[in-house]
Amino acid sequence: MSNKMWGGRFSSGPDALMEAINASIDFDQRLYAQDIAGSRAHAAMLADKGIISSEDADAINHGLNTILSEIEAGTFSFSRALEDIHMNVESRLAELIGPAAGRLHTARSRNDQVATDFRLYVRDCIDRLDGALAAYQEALANKALQHFDAVMPGFTHLQSAQPVTFGHHMLAYVEMADRDRGRFADARKRVNISPLGAAALAGTSFPIDREATASALGFSAPMANSLDAVSARDFVLETLAAASICAIHLTRFAEEIVIWSSAQFRFVSLTDAFSTGSSIMPQKRNPDAAELVRAKAGRIVGALVALSTVMKGLPLAYSKDMQEDKEPAFDALDAIELAILAMTGMVDDMTPNLDAMRKAAGAGFSTATDIADWLVREKGMPFRDAHHVTGRVVALASEKGVELEDLTDEDFAGIDASLDPAIREVLGVDKSVASRVSLGGTAPENVRAQAEAWLQRLEGTGAQAG
Ligand code: ARG
Repeated sequence: MSNKMWGGRFSSGPDALMEAINASIDFDQRLYAQDIAGSRAHAAMLADKGIISSEDADAINHGLNTILSEIEAGTFSFSRALEDIHMNVESRLAELIGPAAGRLHTARSRNDQVATDFRLYVRDCIDRLDGALAAYQEALANKALQHFDAVMPGFTHLQSAQPVTFGHHMLAYVEMADRDRGRFADARKRVNISPLGAAALAGTSFPIDREATASALGFSAPMANSLDAVSARDFVLETLAAASICAIHLTRFAEEIVIWSSAQFRFVSLTDAFSTGSSIMPQKRNPDAAELVRAKAGRIVGALVALSTVMKGLPLAYSKDMQEDKEPAFDALDAIELAILAMTGMVDDMTPNLDAMRKAAGAGFSTATDIADWLVREKGMPFRDAHHVTGRVVALASEKGVELEDLTDEDFAGIDASLDPAIREVLGVDKSVASRVSLGGTAPENVRAQAEAWLQRLEGTGAQAG
């Protein structure tokens, strides 16, 4: 049987392989709510402009509502022969309301329809991601406030560098997540413009009102150029780019959770709620959620690469290649949302092991820079000389197998006369972090103020609802 949407030009139906490669209904049925919303806005506008009768518009509206409830109740039967969500809905509409259904597609094409649906879908995802990221930030800021003065080693090259506080470390991720939210919010501005009414590619001869459909659907404006409207997918690309950067940020923390929860580090522990066991090794507690967040970045960045490759070199306007925009985007947007939620869960769940962190913070001569700074500040020594003198202090401690604060007054004085017993003022890890009062530094008072400021800022941003 030839297709009822375009059967006039065709005398037979598609080959099974044609249908297999062409049909998108298995995945684009996800767009049903957006598709129905777009159709309702379009039909109302057509009636307002006198392009269809208000009786037909009412029947269409009623039929679309029925379809929405059928789909939501799981009683709607999707058909591959009807290719995609647009034709599945329209065909059912014809069954429900008869010939009036045929008027819905006036002054519209599936090209502007799918672009509209997908923009609405991506916009919803961005809004959900923003709420999820706000909740993630809130969880981090709460941990930061709770442990604003808990000393831990700060690392460079994953080698102990200088002591920092656990709260400071948590707040670093709050800042990253905030830039991620900013990228999504910025993308949203360009997602939120309406292609509807561009029709197939050239616009339409009907006296439509594109401003009206744009505003009915919550878009900020209609897109200005009909060719661009149906062929643009940069709105998906930049959302995936924002998702990729966000995912990459999450993996950095996920990796730290994996390292920190190891028996070698023991900086944090996760409860049973966020750990898994081993089927063979009874002692194991594995941070699987963190590992999976680390891995999810693969499919998210992969989606960006996949769609970039689809779009590269595509001539204007619509090409069927663009149907391949959906699966990777759906998958990546699902994955990033789950990853953010799982990270939030782990942050809430995680208990820092304060003793282990404090012990590690002092190891590896991590306060050496404080000795050098003290020589500069108190003794007027040029920093390069102070660095050299301190290097000798570290070498001696290393040779004696002790920490810096275990060196004797004689040890210090023997290295350089400037190293009088007052040097002890800067030797502990608490003194070290307390001294880092510069803007953005790790001093506990800074961290507490920052954590409080964040919590205040996040209040009422939807973090709770996240
Ligand atoms: N299923 C199609 C897609 O996802 C809808 C648009 C089809 N347009 C067309 N001219 N065949 O892109």
